[in-house]
Amino acid sequence: MKRKMVIANRKMHGNIPDNKAFLEGLLDEVAELPDADYVVCMPHPYHFQVQAILTGTRISWGGQTMSRFEFGAHTGSTSPLMLLEFGCKYVIIGHSERRLSGYESDEASGQRFEEAIKVGLIPIFCMGETLKEFEAGMTVDVVIRQLNAVINRVGKEGLAKGIIAYEPVWAIGTGKAATPEHAQCILSFLRGHIELIDEALAKNITILYGGSVNAKNAQKLFSMPDIDGGLIGGASLNTQEFIAICKAANDAS
Ligand code: 13P
Repeated sequence: MKRKMVIANRKMHGNIPDNKAFLEGLLDEVAELPDADYVVCMPHPYHFQVQAILTGTRISWGGQTMSRFEFGAHTGSTSPLMLLEFGCKYVIIGHSERRLSGYESDEASGQRFEEAIKVGLIPIFCMGETLKEFEAGMTVDVVIRQLNAVINRVGKEGLAKGIIAYEPVWAIGTGKAATPEHAQCILSFLRGHIELIDEALAKNITILYGGSVNAKNAQKLFSMPDIDGGLIGGASLNTQEFIAICKAANDAS
């Protein structure tokens, strides 16, 4: 059985005392949860704090996005090299909240993926359809288009250096998670698509589900054969709830 992974995407939430309570609370508990892997993605200004608290522990951390460029006149952007300097191992790429605000198109997400693996960050590549696309039965077309934008750019060797997360837009922050059966169906389809390129990669690549995962539904979602864990938004703002999700991942590993 593959190790499950739980990633907190804390989005634009938190402050210094709240982060401290969250990270220290999590550290106390994950010591007892050795069978899964845990990552936290906090807003960029807090990486210094995250690094100070998590260095040498079994929790990794990452950025919520990054620039396609390593340096230059890009006001307000964060270089992947800067993320590395603060100990980030991961970076979220192509999150729908950034895609839909026009910052990360398929092409720009592919470029970021390529740059992330070039500098040694592990991209957490997000994909997923909107409600309109879901209702029009376009889920598979959308996720394959989004995934192919990466595969066409970095090939199977590049894809192997990242993680994939299926996050249907209609499930994000709505409290209406995809059913475990729907999530399993799409993840199994994605794995099948990758299998056409490389069988071993399809088996080994980590594919997460994200969208209203909480302490109640995590166990059932993580019991699905193709779901390797979760990308958690809102539920990561409540330390006890997030710990319960980590426990579900540990128990399902
Ligand atoms: P929610 O868990 O709040 O639905 O957010 C999911 C998400 O966007 C994680 O990246």
